[in-house]
Amino acid sequence: MKGSDLKIKNLSKSFGDTQVLKNISFRVKKGELFSILGPSGCGKTTLLRIIGGFEDPDEGRILMDNQDILELAPNKRGVNTIFQNYALFPHLSVYENIAFPLRIKKYTDGEIKEEVERYLVLARLQDHIRKYPSQLSGGQKQRVAIARALVNQPNILLLDEPLSALDAKLRQHMLIELDSIHDDVGITFIYVTHDQQEAMSVSDYMAVMNKGEILQVGTPSEIYEKPVNAFVADFIGETNFIEGKVTEVGETTGRISVEGLGVLTVDKDCPINVGDRVKLTIRPEKIRITKKEPVFATNPEQFNVIKGKVDEVIYTGFQSKFFVKVNAKYLFRLIKQHVKYYLDEAPISWKDEVFIWWNCDDSYLVEVSAS
Ligand SMILES: Nc1ncnc2c1ncn2[C@@H]1O[C@H](COP(=O)(O)OP(=O)(O)OP(=O)(O)O)[C@@H](O)[C@H]1O
Ligand SMILES: [Mg+2]
Repeated sequence: MKGSDLKIKNLSKSFGDTQVLKNISFRVKKGELFSILGPSGCGKTTLLRIIGGFEDPDEGRILMDNQDILELAPNKRGVNTIFQNYALFPHLSVYENIAFPLRIKKYTDGEIKEEVERYLVLARLQDHIRKYPSQLSGGQKQRVAIARALVNQPNILLLDEPLSALDAKLRQHMLIELDSIHDDVGITFIYVTHDQQEAMSVSDYMAVMNKGEILQVGTPSEIYEKPVNAFVADFIGETNFIEGKVTEVGETTGRISVEGLGVLTVDKDCPINVGDRVKLTIRPEKIRITKKEPVFATNPEQFNVIKGKVDEVIYTGFQSKFFVKVNAKYLFRLIKQHVKYYLDEAPISWKDEVFIWWNCDDSYLVEVSAS
């Protein structure tokens, strides 16, 4: 099997008066596991249906290995789709479900046996060959759907929320299996989900969509660490937002005045000017918390220190999550890992007065608007 390279160029689609895809462009390289992530209704399934050939776009092109595939029928595109409900044939055994695409292609019984057995092993279904879909667990049905999609030897596999019918533990397990199947077969996977954890843990690249638009394409760490706007920062993981006005601009940092928090130092992630209104994001794991006021031996100007009061603590063994109230507007969420719980200073608890602080390197400007 070989993967294909896919280029989506300026794709738009409307249903009636509603534009559900707005000038979408991105590229997926051969063999990548590429996730498309976005809230319900943002257009993910519509996009996959257009790639699969089940829906036509109003505008745009789709190039597979530099060939336009829009004119090709779904079964001529070298693309297979796994839908959320698996769509297995209930009256066919596991073996016959997987064999089905090959029977249509008029393979001989011998060829079918050889191919089906290969994918039965890959999807770990050897012990369930004679069972019918109603006799399988959710995870097993999912594996039959994957084997049946792969037996066609597609160049690209489209997966539309393939794990959404499974419970949390099984999702985790199937995700690891999907990842390993992807490594084994080496073809291009385009994986649609609205679960950011799921997407981050397996993807080479991710695209974040909202309201029919692609907001950002990047590696999971780029998207987590350098979100292009507040929507992406909020959608991918938890975060804190702070809004302020630029009062000073230096070479690599700037100072912003924030109502209720004072003056904070920010990294100049993008051009800023005195007077601009900005929004920055700081992730919970990057904020530190102590009862004693911190003292910084080097570069104290890099650190932002804020005094607050613990509003809630959620202890989960390896870490605690704190909600720290600073004033009526700001409730910071932060996470402290317990490397040495009992050797730490006395555990911080509810209603304690605390200092929270972070290095300006660790916050990130997500919005700048000129005054
Ligand atoms: N055939 C159709 N006719 C009219 N509207 C449609 C049709 N298919 C989808 N839509 C609308 O297009 C928008 C995008 O739908 P789509 O199924 O692509 O979203 P999604 O991102 O896959 O959402 P979910 O995460 O809930 O599956 C929705 O507002 C939906 O109601
Ligand atoms: Mg969908």
